[in-house]
Amino acid sequence: MRDNGRVNDAKSRVAGATEQGSRLYPRVTSFRSRRGALTDPQQQTWDRLWPTIGADVSDAPLDIAGWFGREAPTIVEIGSGTGTATAAMAKAEPHANLIAIEVYRPGLAQLLQAIERDSIPNIRVLRGDAVDVLENMLGPESLTGVRVFFPDPWPKARHHKRRLLQGPTFKLIAERLIPGGVLHVATDHAEYAEWIAEAGNAEPLLTPLDWDDLAQGPADSPMTHERPVTKFENKAQQVGRPITELIWGKVRA
Ligand SMILES: C[S@@+](CC[C@H](N)C(=O)[O-])C[C@H]1O[C@@H](n2cnc3c(N)ncnc32)[C@H](O)[C@@H]1O
Repeated sequence: MRDNGRVNDAKSRVAGATEQGSRLYPRVTSFRSRRGALTDPQQQTWDRLWPTIGADVSDAPLDIAGWFGREAPTIVEIGSGTGTATAAMAKAEPHANLIAIEVYRPGLAQLLQAIERDSIPNIRVLRGDAVDVLENMLGPESLTGVRVFFPDPWPKARHHKRRLLQGPTFKLIAERLIPGGVLHVATDHAEYAEWIAEAGNAEPLLTPLDWDDLAQGPADSPMTHERPVTKFENKAQQVGRPITELIWGKVRA
């Protein structure tokens, strides 16, 4: 994603926020404010699908089974962008409920179009800050998997506090995973990859998994770990940035 220089400031966004923010831990948001209008066809798809399979982030706990109309392993993707990976992985995981969380409305609209075009039944979309979703809408040990593909790297040192994947978020994600649940991360930013690895390995509820073992497909995992190459990733590859994949499992008691 291009850096357009605008950044969000959670302090001004959250009613009643203190200097430290009003959430469970002090933080600023990990996303930039990006404007973008929907095309007419996107708006029409949005109007058709949003009332049933889309929702804005709120403080109300999410009734996942009610929303999907079934009990199934639930996998959350944080920052789904235009939803290329979401749509492909949902097709490979018909037995799982997938929730895509994204702040960028045109990206969500593209995912809605793919859902409609390909009749994908097992995706729901949430618009807003994924950390709020994890904190307020999802219960402890409610998720089989969490995916974070190409989180914004915030390369400047003064912006590192905006990085999504740091200690408190790892803790939150780990608490939301079921024992044996999986966190799958991919990044094309070498320095952020090291930062992510260090923070993830420091979380006591998570244990690094062996990628080669996962490629064989563990019998008890309902998650696919095969990612399609997104437009974003394609650009990274074209300019020679290697992709780092990181994967952790929630410790079993
Ligand atoms: C670099 S893009 C990657 C998009 C997609 N995962 C891909 O691989 O093409 C990062 C995305 O994460 C979204 N994002 C960043 N922080 C977020 C947050 N806290 N909650 C929801 N979405 C977030 C941004 O809006 C952006 O679309």
